[in-house]
Amino acid sequence: MYLSDRVKNIAPSATLAISSRAKAMKKDGIDVISFSAGEPDFDTPSPIKEAAKQAIDQGFTKYTPVGGTLELKQAISQKLLRENNLHYGESEIIVSCGAKHSLYNAILSLCNPGDEVLLPKPYWVTYLEQIKLAEAKPILLDCNPATLQVEIEKIEEAISPRTRLFILNNPSNPSGVIWEEETLEKIALLAQKHDFYLVSDEIYEHLVYDNARPKSIATFPGMKERTVIINGVSKTFSMTGWRIGYAAGPKPVVDAMAALQSHSTSNPTSISQKASLAALECDPAIIQNMVSRFGARRKLMMDKISSVPEVRFPVPKGAFYLFADFSPYLEKSFQGKIISSSLTLSELLLQEARVATVPGIAFGMEGFLRLSYATSEELIEEGMNRLVEFLISL
Ligand SMILES: Cc1ncc(COP(=O)(O)O)c(C=O)c1O
Repeated sequence: MYLSDRVKNIAPSATLAISSRAKAMKKDGIDVISFSAGEPDFDTPSPIKEAAKQAIDQGFTKYTPVGGTLELKQAISQKLLRENNLHYGESEIIVSCGAKHSLYNAILSLCNPGDEVLLPKPYWVTYLEQIKLAEAKPILLDCNPATLQVEIEKIEEAISPRTRLFILNNPSNPSGVIWEEETLEKIALLAQKHDFYLVSDEIYEHLVYDNARPKSIATFPGMKERTVIINGVSKTFSMTGWRIGYAAGPKPVVDAMAALQSHSTSNPTSISQKASLAALECDPAIIQNMVSRFGARRKLMMDKISSVPEVRFPVPKGAFYLFADFSPYLEKSFQGKIISSSLTLSELLLQEARVATVPGIAFGMEGFLRLSYATSEELIEEGMNRLVEFLISL
């Protein structure tokens, strides 16, 4: 079959591969516990669902403006002011079909073929593929494996005259790292000195623990003009299926993103926009409740994994993942076969312990596994017992 080089170069998602294997095993009656989820397991809160039902009943089922309704953009503008102390007018905001779509619009609008994009490891896999789809060149930045943070010298060394963009994910999927203000400040200075843009993906900003408060790089002097903030309702409000994300940035970039969107998807779903408006205006206690439940699960998972001292991880401050270094288990063998990679370890855990994890190589980090705690405490308890037992048996 003739297919474009563009699509032939897309790497299949390792995250999805393991998840679908786990699903297939479950279907066959095998009791698999999945730590591979990339979405909250809570139901979408009912005031949000009610707003969607009302939208349908009131006939709000037609095209809306391409970049989202004015009322939703206004609510996003207020959110950015209230929570991030950032002033964005409606013309500097665009609503898209999920944050992934916002991100794709931003990368395609900012990068020409051959432009270089700085991408810190461990990276969320979609960034890499979207950079490639834009025919830009990903420049991967190695992190300190103990802290999973990139040192500023590494960033400085990677900058070239072709550097166009830096993709920052704060808090990070998969590591849960929250970027330190001091580092952000230094990146901001580098961006201005070397004239590159920032895409700041802040989708996990509310899912934070230990009183952490991630700061948007757009709040540093001179940075609002060269940052595109990506955010959305998927993670914070448990609305992954509703497909609403948004971006805020300089008007020319937002206009370009809207032009692109006008010829690909047009507006995001009208009904989901009404639901998202209700989400942005909902009682903050709804979010707090979900965050405190995630906090308890995070603690449980960390406690459990701590019984295997060989496995190291920096305490995740945000998102709902534990990204841990299992490299002491690489080169060990199981039934005479060497465990040569994070993929092999992840496959073994699935087959032998019936626990689904995501291999670190999907995020550019061999030897690591990502464990999602977006599942119940009972399943975390049981799944971690299985995982620990298997590791100890090696
Ligand atoms: C870092 C990051 N950004 C963006 C997204 C995509 O969000 P959405 O479901 O709104 O497209 C995800 C989802 O996994 C994510 O982990």
